[in-house]
Amino acid sequence: MSASATTIPYKDKSKFYNELCSEASGIAEKEWFVNLANFAALLKQHLPKINWVGFYLAHNGELLLSSFQGLPACTRIALGKGVCGTAARSMESIIVPDVDQFPGHIVCDSASRSEIVLPLIKDGNLLGVLDIDSPVLARFTEEDRVGLQKLTEILVTKSQWPQSFT
Ligand code: SME
Repeated sequence: MSASATTIPYKDKSKFYNELCSEASGIAEKEWFVNLANFAALLKQHLPKINWVGFYLAHNGELLLSSFQGLPACTRIALGKGVCGTAARSMESIIVPDVDQFPGHIVCDSASRSEIVLPLIKDGNLLGVLDIDSPVLARFTEEDRVGLQKLTEILVTKSQWPQSFT
């Protein structure tokens, strides 16, 4: 099965995320690393006004860079550091309307102006985070958070995760 190359209209965000989640479910495999790669590509293809999207995975008490689309990024983030480490430690998603106003924000692409980070959680354990950057201030809304949360749930539930993550 392959993802459609067409762009899903973004005007109605609820409809957009329903279609995006349906595509994601359609291309999901049981291998987690395949899904990380394809979900990053799917988001880069369909989400307008973003310059970086990817995953950091929890490994030996820190976050390590995994599949992404965008400029090369920082490889290791300590729990509690930056937006990613803060979301990972609290296991709560974070919307940052202006990255310059977030104390400790870690710059990977200087074009980034706003950011959203969602934790990936399985059975109460942190697997990693989904991180998306935008060159536009206040790019991400509550509707994006809800839609992306559904996408991360598909990723978590459809993938078989190795025991080292859980
Ligand atoms: N800005 C993130 C670092 C990762 S990059 O944006 C890809 C942070 O503050 O955690």
